[in-house]
Amino acid sequence: MAEDRSFLFLLGSARAGGNTEILARRAAKELPRGVGQRWIRTAEVPLAPFVDRKHDGEDLVPPAGNERLLLDATFAATDLVIASPVYWYSVSASMKLYFDHWAGWLDQPELEFKARMRGKTLWGVSVLAEQPEQAEPLIGTLRKTAEYLGMRWGGQLLGNGSRPGDVLLDEGALKSAEAFFAGADLVRV
Ligand SMILES: Cc1cc2nc3c(=O)[nH]c(=O)nc-3n(C[C@H](O)[C@H](O)[C@H](O)COP(=O)(O)O)c2cc1C
Repeated sequence: MAEDRSFLFLLGSARAGGNTEILARRAAKELPRGVGQRWIRTAEVPLAPFVDRKHDGEDLVPPAGNERLLLDATFAATDLVIASPVYWYSVSASMKLYFDHWAGWLDQPELEFKARMRGKTLWGVSVLAEQPEQAEPLIGTLRKTAEYLGMRWGGQLLGNGSRPGDVLLDEGALKSAEAFFAGADLVRV
């Protein structure tokens, strides 16, 4: 049922209104009305540098502030859309930091992070300036992360562009965007 689904769009660009955001919004336009959407720019909810406390014998610090906000938004979503431009063949630094914090959340058994992530769907939306092959490490990162957490892999939507708005000239990407969430098997209401 479409009403049971809730999409969290995490925008990882270091600028607002860039190509990745344009492409993600184009794809989201096709989501049925009953489907929840929440949009968060990772740059607007900055996370503290990740400290790996797993083996230092200290009590782990429960997530607070922006970290709690992102954890709660993550848990509330059935579908997690990682909308990150390709930066150095991978996700942006703010998006990578979010994933690093997943490691901390995994280390806190009371959060039941792995159990609560299982069965959600992870999607990727990215724009890059060069050849699509440069996105391979990014796609591998997302696919393997989904696999590790027992999440479904929804797929990767890729576009080309450099200046904001360039992706609107990428007809193939716009066409793919229209059909991207068709794979979500959402019932139209
Ligand atoms: C820090 C940084 C690293 C980048 N690395 C790559 C790269 O490895 N490969 C590529 O094709 N484009 C790269 N680009 C270009 C961006 O992917 C491209 O300009 C994209 O449109 C930016 O995303 P945005 O418009 O959504 O902000 C990089 C841009 C920046 C700012």
